Amino acid sequence: MKNIVILTGSGISAESGLKTFRSGDGLWLNHKIEDVCTVEAFERNPALVHSFYNELRPIMMKALPNAAHQAITTLQQKLPKLNINIVTQNVDLLHEKAKSKNIYHIHGRIDECVCMNCGHIIKTFADVESDEVCPQCQVQGMLKPNIVFFGEMPQHMSEVDYMLSHCDLFIAIGTSGIVYPAAGFVRQAKFHGAKTYLFNLDPCNNSSLFDEEILGKASQTFPKFARQLINEINRQS
Ligand code: APR
Repeated sequence: MKNIVILTGSGISAESGLKTFRSGDGLWLNHKIEDVCTVEAFERNPALVHSFYNELRPIMMKALPNAAHQAITTLQQKLPKLNINIVTQNVDLLHEKAKSKNIYHIHGRIDECVCMNCGHIIKTFADVESDEVCPQCQVQGMLKPNIVFFGEMPQHMSEVDYMLSHCDLFIAIGTSGIVYPAAGFVRQAKFHGAKTYLFNLDPCNNSSLFDEEILGKASQTFPKFARQLINEINRQS
Protein backbone atom coordinates (compact mmCIF):
# COMPACT_ATOMS: atom_id res chain seq x y z
CA MET A 1 0.00 0.00 0.00
CA LYS A 2 1.50 3.31 -1.10
CA ASN A 3 -1.12 5.69 -2.46
CA ILE A 4 -4.48 6.58 -0.93
CA VAL A 5 -7.02 8.97 -2.44
CA ILE A 6 -9.79 10.28 -0.21
CA LEU A 7 -12.72 11.91 -2.02
CA THR A 8 -14.94 14.01 0.22
CA GLY A 9 -18.37 15.54 -0.36
CA SER A 10 -20.73 17.72 1.61
CA GLY A 11 -21.75 14.79 3.87
CA ILE A 12 -18.41 14.95 5.70
CA SER A 13 -19.18 18.53 6.73
CA ALA A 14 -22.81 17.86 7.72
CA GLU A 15 -21.86 17.17 11.33
CA SER A 16 -19.97 20.47 11.39
CA GLY A 17 -23.35 22.14 10.83
CA LEU A 18 -23.04 22.74 7.08
CA LYS A 19 -26.03 21.69 5.03
CA THR A 20 -25.51 19.07 2.31
CA PHE A 21 -26.57 19.89 -1.24
CA ARG A 22 -29.33 17.43 -1.89
CA SER A 23 -30.78 16.78 1.52
CA GLY A 24 -34.33 17.43 2.63
CA ASP A 25 -36.07 20.22 0.78
CA GLY A 26 -33.38 20.47 -1.91
CA LEU A 27 -32.87 24.12 -1.07
CA TRP A 28 -29.64 25.68 0.06
CA LEU A 29 -30.06 28.80 2.21
CA ASN A 30 -33.50 29.10 0.56
CA HIS A 31 -32.15 28.99 -2.98
CA LYS A 32 -32.43 26.35 -5.65
CA ILE A 33 -28.98 25.04 -6.69
CA GLU A 34 -29.79 26.07 -10.30
CA ASP A 35 -30.27 29.69 -9.23
CA VAL A 36 -26.89 30.09 -7.56
CA CYS A 37 -24.56 27.37 -8.86
CA THR A 38 -24.70 27.64 -12.64
CA VAL A 39 -22.88 29.75 -15.21
CA GLU A 40 -26.27 30.84 -16.60
CA ALA A 41 -27.44 32.03 -13.18
CA PHE A 42 -24.28 34.09 -12.75
CA GLU A 43 -24.65 35.65 -16.21
CA ARG A 44 -28.33 36.37 -15.56
CA ASN A 45 -28.04 37.81 -12.08
CA PRO A 46 -24.48 38.20 -10.70
CA ALA A 47 -25.72 40.31 -7.77
CA LEU A 48 -27.96 37.46 -6.55
CA VAL A 49 -25.15 34.91 -6.87
CA HIS A 50 -22.71 37.20 -5.02
CA SER A 51 -25.23 37.83 -2.25
CA PHE A 52 -25.74 34.07 -1.86
CA TYR A 53 -22.00 33.43 -1.43
CA ASN A 54 -21.68 36.52 0.79
CA GLU A 55 -24.26 34.89 3.06
CA LEU A 56 -22.63 31.46 2.90
CA ARG A 57 -19.02 32.64 3.42
CA PRO A 58 -19.28 33.61 7.13
CA ILE A 59 -21.28 30.44 7.88
CA MET A 60 -18.54 28.31 6.36
CA MET A 61 -15.77 30.37 7.94
CA LYS A 62 -17.26 29.79 11.41
CA ALA A 63 -17.71 26.01 11.02
CA LEU A 64 -15.28 23.70 12.77
CA PRO A 65 -13.94 20.35 11.57
CA ASN A 66 -15.45 17.21 13.05
CA ALA A 67 -14.03 13.81 13.95
CA ALA A 68 -14.09 12.61 10.33
CA HIS A 69 -11.93 15.52 9.10
CA GLN A 70 -9.62 15.00 12.06
CA ALA A 71 -9.32 11.27 11.37
CA ILE A 72 -8.02 12.04 7.86
CA THR A 73 -5.33 14.26 9.40
CA THR A 74 -4.45 11.49 11.85
CA LEU A 75 -4.09 9.04 8.95
CA GLN A 76 -1.69 11.43 7.22
CA GLN A 77 0.30 12.02 10.40
CA LYS A 78 0.51 8.39 11.53
CA LEU A 79 1.26 6.99 8.07
CA PRO A 80 3.91 9.45 6.85
CA LYS A 81 5.38 7.00 4.34
CA LEU A 82 2.10 6.83 2.37
CA ASN A 83 0.89 9.42 -0.12
CA ILE A 84 -2.53 10.36 1.15
CA ASN A 85 -4.27 12.91 -1.05
CA ILE A 86 -7.60 14.55 -0.32
CA VAL A 87 -9.77 15.45 -3.28
CA THR A 88 -12.68 17.48 -2.03
CA GLN A 89 -15.85 18.68 -3.72
CA ASN A 90 -16.40 20.96 -0.74
CA VAL A 91 -15.75 24.67 -0.92
CA ASP A 92 -15.52 24.91 2.87
CA LEU A 93 -12.10 24.93 4.52
CA LEU A 94 -12.63 22.22 7.11
CA HIS A 95 -9.82 19.98 5.86
CA GLU A 96 -7.47 22.97 6.17
CA LYS A 97 -8.83 23.78 9.63
CA ALA A 98 -8.24 20.13 10.64
CA LYS A 99 -4.61 20.66 9.51
CA SER A 100 -4.71 18.06 6.75
CA LYS A 101 -2.22 18.26 3.89
CA ASN A 102 -2.41 17.57 0.13
CA ILE A 103 -5.90 19.01 -0.31
CA TYR A 104 -7.29 19.52 -3.82
CA HIS A 105 -10.45 21.62 -4.03
CA ILE A 106 -11.92 20.52 -7.35
CA HIS A 107 -15.04 22.70 -6.96
CA GLY A 108 -13.21 25.80 -5.73
CA ARG A 109 -13.00 27.57 -2.37
CA ILE A 110 -15.33 29.87 -0.49
CA ASP A 111 -12.47 32.20 0.51
CA GLU A 112 -11.50 33.07 -3.06
CA CYS A 113 -12.87 34.95 -6.02
CA VAL A 114 -11.45 35.04 -9.52
CA CYS A 115 -11.35 37.80 -12.10
CA MET A 116 -12.98 36.56 -15.32
CA ASN A 117 -10.99 39.18 -17.25
CA CYS A 118 -7.41 38.43 -16.15
CA GLY A 119 -7.68 35.19 -14.12
CA HIS A 120 -6.27 36.81 -10.97
CA ILE A 121 -7.34 34.96 -7.79
CA ILE A 122 -8.17 37.08 -4.77
CA LYS A 123 -8.36 35.75 -1.21
CA THR A 124 -11.38 37.22 0.48
CA PHE A 125 -13.10 36.86 3.80
CA ALA A 126 -15.24 39.93 3.17
CA ASP A 127 -18.32 40.35 0.99
CA VAL A 128 -17.76 40.63 -2.76
CA GLU A 129 -20.07 42.84 -4.85
CA SER A 130 -20.92 42.55 -8.55
CA ASP A 131 -19.56 46.03 -9.40
CA GLU A 132 -16.17 45.56 -7.74
CA VAL A 133 -12.92 46.42 -9.52
CA CYS A 134 -10.23 43.76 -9.94
CA PRO A 135 -7.11 44.89 -8.02
CA GLN A 136 -4.89 43.33 -10.72
CA CYS A 137 -6.34 44.47 -14.07
CA GLN A 138 -8.57 47.30 -12.73
CA VAL A 139 -11.57 46.07 -14.78
CA GLN A 140 -14.91 46.48 -13.03
CA GLY A 141 -17.65 43.90 -12.60
CA MET A 142 -15.70 40.78 -13.55
CA LEU A 143 -15.13 39.17 -10.15
CA LYS A 144 -16.77 35.78 -9.70
CA PRO A 145 -16.74 33.55 -6.62
CA ASN A 146 -13.99 30.96 -7.22
CA ILE A 147 -16.62 28.24 -7.09
CA VAL A 148 -16.93 25.76 -9.94
CA PHE A 149 -20.46 26.19 -11.23
CA PHE A 150 -22.39 23.61 -13.23
CA GLY A 151 -21.20 24.28 -16.78
CA GLU A 152 -17.55 24.87 -15.75
CA MET A 153 -14.53 22.57 -15.66
CA PRO A 154 -13.51 21.26 -12.23
CA GLN A 155 -10.07 22.31 -11.01
CA HIS A 156 -6.87 20.21 -10.54
CA MET A 157 -8.12 17.48 -12.86
CA SER A 158 -4.72 16.49 -14.26
CA GLU A 159 -3.30 15.93 -10.75
CA VAL A 160 -6.43 14.00 -9.77
CA ASP A 161 -6.25 11.89 -12.90
CA TYR A 162 -2.65 10.94 -12.05
CA MET A 163 -3.56 10.12 -8.44
CA LEU A 164 -6.47 7.90 -9.48
CA SER A 165 -4.36 5.93 -11.90
CA HIS A 166 -1.73 5.25 -9.20
CA CYS A 167 -4.11 4.62 -6.35
CA ASP A 168 -4.09 1.50 -4.12
CA LEU A 169 -6.97 2.52 -1.88
CA PHE A 170 -9.83 4.86 -2.82
CA ILE A 171 -12.11 6.15 -0.08
CA ALA A 172 -15.21 8.28 -0.66
CA ILE A 173 -16.79 10.03 2.32
CA GLY A 174 -20.15 11.82 2.38
CA THR A 175 -20.95 12.14 -1.30
CA SER A 176 -24.05 11.12 -3.22
CA GLY A 177 -22.19 10.04 -6.37
CA ILE A 178 -24.47 12.09 -8.58
CA VAL A 179 -22.21 14.87 -9.84
CA TYR A 180 -19.55 14.06 -12.44
CA PRO A 181 -16.63 13.88 -12.84
CA ALA A 182 -16.23 13.11 -9.10
CA ALA A 183 -18.89 10.37 -9.30
CA GLY A 184 -16.68 8.58 -11.84
CA PHE A 185 -13.47 8.64 -9.76
CA VAL A 186 -14.29 5.33 -8.06
CA ARG A 187 -14.57 3.60 -11.44
CA GLN A 188 -11.22 5.00 -12.54
CA ALA A 189 -9.48 4.00 -9.29
CA LYS A 190 -11.00 0.51 -9.47
CA PHE A 191 -9.91 0.11 -13.08
CA HIS A 192 -6.34 0.76 -11.94
CA GLY A 193 -6.61 -1.87 -9.22
CA ALA A 194 -7.56 0.13 -6.12
CA LYS A 195 -9.68 -1.28 -3.33
CA THR A 196 -12.67 1.04 -2.91
CA TYR A 197 -14.55 2.09 0.24
CA LEU A 198 -17.58 4.30 0.73
CA PHE A 199 -18.49 5.96 4.04
CA ASN A 200 -21.91 7.53 3.66
CA LEU A 201 -25.10 8.04 5.60
CA ASP A 202 -27.22 6.42 2.86
CA PRO A 203 -26.39 4.18 -0.08
CA CYS A 204 -25.24 6.46 -2.89
CA ASN A 205 -25.93 6.62 -6.60
CA ASN A 206 -22.85 4.55 -7.53
CA SER A 207 -22.77 2.26 -4.46
CA SER A 208 -22.33 -0.87 -6.58
CA LEU A 209 -18.85 0.28 -7.63
CA PHE A 210 -17.53 0.17 -4.08
CA ASP A 211 -15.99 -2.99 -2.62
CA GLU A 212 -17.13 -1.96 0.84
CA GLU A 213 -19.98 0.34 1.81
CA ILE A 214 -20.03 1.51 5.42
CA LEU A 215 -23.27 3.29 6.23
CA GLY A 216 -23.62 5.71 9.13
CA LYS A 217 -22.38 9.09 10.27
CA ALA A 218 -18.87 9.70 8.97
CA SER A 219 -17.76 11.11 12.34
CA GLN A 220 -18.41 7.67 13.82
CA THR A 221 -17.60 5.25 11.02
CA PHE A 222 -14.48 6.81 9.52
CA PRO A 223 -12.34 7.38 12.67
CA LYS A 224 -12.86 3.71 13.59
CA PHE A 225 -11.75 2.60 10.12
CA ALA A 226 -8.77 5.00 10.21
CA ARG A 227 -7.56 3.53 13.52
CA GLN A 228 -7.82 -0.01 12.12
CA LEU A 229 -5.96 0.97 8.94
CA ILE A 230 -3.15 2.63 10.90
CA ASN A 231 -2.76 -0.48 13.08
CA GLU A 232 -2.85 -2.81 10.10
CA ILE A 233 -0.25 -0.88 8.10
CA ASN A 234 2.04 -0.37 11.08
CA ARG A 235 1.85 -4.12 11.86
CA GLN A 236 2.90 -4.95 8.30
CA SER A 237 5.90 -2.57 8.24
N1 APR B 1 -21.92 11.19 7.30
C1 APR B 1 -21.74 10.61 6.09
N2 APR B 1 -22.48 10.91 5.00
C2 APR B 1 -23.43 11.83 5.14
C3 APR B 1 -23.69 12.49 6.36
C4 APR B 1 -22.89 12.14 7.48
N3 APR B 1 -23.05 12.69 8.68
N4 APR B 1 -24.72 13.36 6.17
C5 APR B 1 -25.07 13.25 4.88
N5 APR B 1 -24.31 12.32 4.26
C6 APR B 1 -24.36 11.89 2.85
C7 APR B 1 -25.76 11.82 2.27
O1 APR B 1 -26.29 10.53 2.48
C8 APR B 1 -25.51 12.11 0.79
O2 APR B 1 -25.38 10.91 0.04
O3 APR B 1 -23.65 12.85 2.10
C9 APR B 1 -24.16 12.83 0.77
C10 APR B 1 -24.24 14.28 0.32
O4 APR B 1 -24.63 14.30 -1.02
P1 APR B 1 -24.87 15.65 -1.80
O5 APR B 1 -25.75 16.54 -0.99
O6 APR B 1 -25.31 15.32 -3.18
O7 APR B 1 -23.42 16.34 -1.82
P2 APR B 1 -22.16 16.07 -2.74
O8 APR B 1 -22.06 14.65 -3.14
O9 APR B 1 -20.98 16.66 -2.03
O10 APR B 1 -22.49 16.98 -4.00
C11 APR B 1 -21.56 17.02 -5.04
O11 APR B 1 -22.80 18.70 -6.19
O12 APR B 1 -24.07 20.66 -6.10
C12 APR B 1 -22.84 20.11 -6.40
O13 APR B 1 -20.79 21.21 -6.45
C13 APR B 1 -21.75 20.71 -5.57
O14 APR B 1 -19.79 19.68 -4.61
C14 APR B 1 -21.20 19.53 -4.80
C15 APR B 1 -21.54 18.37 -5.69
